[in-house]
Amino acid sequence: MSDTAIMKGLAGVVADETAISKVNPESNSLLYRGYPVQELAATQSFEAVAYLLWYGELPTPSQRAEFEQLERSLRPLDARTTALLDTMPVDAHPMDLVRTAVSQLGTFDGTLHRPGGWTNRELDLDRAAYLFAQLPTIVAAVQRRRRGQDPIPPREDLDYSSNFLWMTFGELPSEAAVDVFRVSLVLYAEHSFNASTFTARVIASTTSDLYSAVVGAIGALKGPLHGGANEAVMHIFEEVGTADNVVPWLERALTEKRKIMGFGHRVYKHGDSRVPTMHAALNVLLEESGRTDLASLYETLEEEFVARKGIYPNLDYPSGPAYHLLGFDTEIFTPLFVAARVTGWTAHIMEQAAANALIRPLSAYNGVDERQVPGAR
Ligand code: ACO
Repeated sequence: MSDTAIMKGLAGVVADETAISKVNPESNSLLYRGYPVQELAATQSFEAVAYLLWYGELPTPSQRAEFEQLERSLRPLDARTTALLDTMPVDAHPMDLVRTAVSQLGTFDGTLHRPGGWTNRELDLDRAAYLFAQLPTIVAAVQRRRRGQDPIPPREDLDYSSNFLWMTFGELPSEAAVDVFRVSLVLYAEHSFNASTFTARVIASTTSDLYSAVVGAIGALKGPLHGGANEAVMHIFEEVGTADNVVPWLERALTEKRKIMGFGHRVYKHGDSRVPTMHAALNVLLEESGRTDLASLYETLEEEFVARKGIYPNLDYPSGPAYHLLGFDTEIFTPLFVAARVTGWTAHIMEQAAANALIRPLSAYNGVDERQVPGAR
């Protein structure tokens, strides 16, 4: 064993600087480019937040109109993407389909392998906008295919959030429900050096291309300790069933040393800064749907778990049931996170490229001592 200090899980390690977002666990605050996330969620479209993350400033009215027009024009899927999705098993995990489709989009980009084409900020901004516009069309098509339905083409007259729901369900929910969806996307957009963003930065640090970095990030997000938790929260609600069953279920789960999904965070130890905003948004859907059973299950599990462990909900706890009430399949929740977080990932990929240093930590060897290969002299 080595006596080098090992920062398991890189906990507490400051790996680099970033100007994209600031997480402050002491004040429970989260800033995107200096703006409090709850104020962005209250006032800005998701398109404006994406622009802010990439360019550092909110768009002016004319920049906003130009970007919205670009985004709307980039939404339709290439026939080859629809064909690719059709080759994959209907019951494969949607995260695997989305990851594969994004990988294919990289092969369509003729600028990628020209000299200087890989890590060129202007081209990367175009690529980020392309992935941003394509992901809702891909995710909606994947959701519909799971239900045996044909894809619905995008509508240029709708904003990002409304169009996403339109392409998924073929109808629009109430304005309040569309707004809940928009709020969830804003809250999911960015969160400093989380595992998937760090994965994207590691890949970008080798001067690999933006698509490869996003594909890697999708793989990292899939895990239930990270983005996969929003799905896992819904599975827990299904398993517990009713508020009356919370206490016996929880006692058993804690005896079995199970992790309760949707609670805990590597950085926040006194509550996740995004939860109050998302909880208020969830309440809108709970009231609209009259689902008092789900509301009481949600509140009871939170109260009982916090009382026993002092560990607070993270963003996945309110967003899981919110996506359920919007009508998405549970397996689609993490792909929704992908569609939102691609904004933060691509902002970080460009930031990494702009001041790059290869990310390559050391390891402490704890295997067998040097020995001779049998037969070697
Ligand atoms: N349920 C039960 N116990 C928990 C939970 C939980 N959700 N979270 C932390 N703990 C306990 C651990 O068992 C551990 O206890 P111990 O010291 O007695 O062994 C202690 O709290 C510390 O937990 P770690 O997992 O070591 O802390 P870490 O900082 O690595 O964990 C993590 C952060 C991975 C998010 C963890 O809280 C977890 O697994 N939560 C559930 C998954 C989840 O909700 N992930 C979403 C993250 S946020 C996001 O992606 C939007």
